[in-house]
Amino acid sequence: MATPLRIAPSILSADFGRLAEEVSSAEKGGADWIHVDVMDGRFVPNITFGPDIVRTVRRLTKLPVDVHLMIVEPDRHIDAFAAAGADTIMVQVEATVHLQRTLHHIRDLGKRAGAVLCPHTPEDVLRYVMGDLDQVLLMTVNPGFGGQAFLPAVVPKIARMRALIDAGPYPIELEVDGGITPETAVTVVAAGARVLVAGNSVFGKPDRAAAISALRAAGS
Ligand code: DX5
Ligand code: ZN
Repeated sequence: MATPLRIAPSILSADFGRLAEEVSSAEKGGADWIHVDVMDGRFVPNITFGPDIVRTVRRLTKLPVDVHLMIVEPDRHIDAFAAAGADTIMVQVEATVHLQRTLHHIRDLGKRAGAVLCPHTPEDVLRYVMGDLDQVLLMTVNPGFGGQAFLPAVVPKIARMRALIDAGPYPIELEVDGGITPETAVTVVAAGARVLVAGNSVFGKPDRAAAISALRAAGS
């Protein structure tokens, strides 16, 4: 496995009133990407933010901005998130009717294209779009909220997704999201994840550098 382990703090758990300091503390603390959770109150029960916050985060950091769209009909909004400065745009496969077309569109906009699977969605749904993917995100909680408990039942899927990626020629990043702590990081990295999204276990800790180091150490 050649790719380095990456830590992507999710601003969902940040103090929005101090977003600039929060993003900067993650960047200075050694984060590799900034993860932005977009929720529409329809695909998931919760509502968060849209392209304006992505534009703001883009201004606040030099790090890649990893945008996770938990929204229905993502095709209606992809151009806006691309224009706002997302580096990677990921759609939930459960909310996307023509996944190959959507991934292709994201790449046409010059962005990295990602697919996200809820805990119950088998990895096999990606078998015929591997050439259209830059990234796969496996949810290790049901999407919608930060601070939920990690679902261990997803671990075998991480291993199967890793095998699917390694069996092919495409350099697809494998990311996990939800309930990632130094303890669960050990398990997901052993199963083959190389990018760890972390909300509470970074922004819920006073020392962001120590929190990020703890995740990185657990996964190394
Ligand atoms: C959940 C979001 C996650 C969330 C993770 O729907 O996609 O990115 O912020 O939060 P933690 O790490 O606290 O589980
Ligand atoms: Zn997310």
